[in-house]
Amino acid sequence: MRPQDAIVGWDDELNAELYDRFTRQHPLYADTSRDLVSRADLTDKRLIVDLCAGTGVTAAIALEAMPIDGRVICVDSAKAMQTVGRRTLNDPRITWITARAEDVSDHITATVDAVVCNSAIWKTNTPATFAAVKRILRPGGRFVFNIGGGFADLSDPDDRARTTPSLTDLITAIAVLDYGYVPRRREDPGPVLTPATVKTQLVAGGFTVLAQDTVTRTSTVEEKRAWLSIPLFARPSGQLTHAQRMEILHEAFSRVDQTQVSATTWLVVVAQA
Ligand SMILES: C[S@@+](CC[C@H](N)C(=O)[O-])C[C@H]1O[C@@H](n2cnc3c(N)ncnc32)[C@H](O)[C@@H]1O
Repeated sequence: MRPQDAIVGWDDELNAELYDRFTRQHPLYADTSRDLVSRADLTDKRLIVDLCAGTGVTAAIALEAMPIDGRVICVDSAKAMQTVGRRTLNDPRITWITARAEDVSDHITATVDAVVCNSAIWKTNTPATFAAVKRILRPGGRFVFNIGGGFADLSDPDDRARTTPSLTDLITAIAVLDYGYVPRRREDPGPVLTPATVKTQLVAGGFTVLAQDTVTRTSTVEEKRAWLSIPLFARPSGQLTHAQRMEILHEAFSRVDQTQVSATTWLVVVAQA
């Protein structure tokens, strides 16, 4: 089984609206996008692809780093995400293509200067995606993406040091005690993209790996609460309705230590075609 938010659920209007609102009110996706953009070396690049672009957060930040006549092609498999992005960004320098990352070379015939992919690559079939990216990227062009630590087998720094329960600990406890939720053993979460696996796949796809860095990002409990309000990310998965999940989140937030700051590890990869 792929992770809960692999593909199913993204093509949903409400989820897309709430995701987009989150990206405007909280810095998570802008921060991670800025990191990728700074590594993609875009100052003299004219045409790039934002892969699994969602509502275009990374594209908008990339355009700030590109020359005035720079253009971005946003590719995403969820039309609902693109509809929201097209409306809220309303930028003629962005083209929107609804397609799977794995098929990007069937939809883009031009050679592009760089490809960035924020917070999504693990949702794709990476060997197929890497091969497709290689076909559209000019020789020497950069392919920059990140992987949430949990999907790369990297643990978060404060997992063991925390002395009070996290928001997600409390969500699970309340769901079990007050809503009869029965935690299920996680089924096979799919391939883990360790740094070694990613490197092997990139090299097999014809890339040179320039960097694989581990970075840490901190977030407030308020940001976590807002993120967990996006239907696709709401916990716990399965069994309960979204309304129940929101009641549980509300209760958990009222009990959590709101000064808590949580750190998340990301693997950031820079490859060259
Ligand atoms: C967490 S969002 C990230 C969106 C955007 N990159 C950002 O930084 O805000 C994940 C996105 O990946 C897209 N996605 C998932 N699997 C995909 C695939 N195989 N091909 C293209 N897009 C995909 C989803 O539709 C969703 O818009």
